[in-house]
Amino acid sequence: WPQGVVALLIGYLFGSIPFGLLLTRFAGLGDIRSIGSGNIGATNVLRTGNKALAASTLLGDMLKGAVAVLVAEVYLGVDASIYAALGAFVGHVFPVWLRFRGGKGVATYIGCLVALAPVAALFFAVIWGMTAILYRYSSAAALAASAATPIVLWEIGQHKVALLYCILSAILWYRHSENIRRLANRTEPRIGQKKQ
Ligand code: G3P
Repeated sequence: WPQGVVALLIGYLFGSIPFGLLLTRFAGLGDIRSIGSGNIGATNVLRTGNKALAASTLLGDMLKGAVAVLVAEVYLGVDASIYAALGAFVGHVFPVWLRFRGGKGVATYIGCLVALAPVAALFFAVIWGMTAILYRYSSAAALAASAATPIVLWEIGQHKVALLYCILSAILWYRHSENIRRLANRTEPRIGQKKQ
């Protein structure tokens, strides 16, 4: 348990670094929260038109999850790494530095998954990619892939990670409420498209 709490805190510290916000600010593009959907994630950074910045945001938000998991695994043990993933995801979505108003969690979700269960991460990437190619909605791709992930994890015998990902997927879906509403109204912008 003490290890779990330490891992949770380490995860939170990594997870709460808002790469999208920092990178767009350093690039002189202003506050990403006043652009497009207002989200701090890579999908919204892409709406600034700067692809390299969007890719860097995706990479940063993924890496902080993967690094948190690996640090916890090496120093605190395999079980602690699950708590680190929870901390990192929650840190990204509810960062204390942004008054708990963070991102939607997709990149950090997949980053942690790469470190915890690479096979499941591959499934996520394939489902995300196929949905994105077919429909060109980043949100729909994330919703589909995250719905499948706990099942994939359970099927490959990663039961503890599967339970964690039930929680992460529920939070991810909750954070996409507005996107779900826009998808239903057909007003959700396609990938790379400025918000309508
Ligand atoms: O699932 C992708 C998510 O990041 C959507 O972002 O900016 O379209 O609300 P956004």
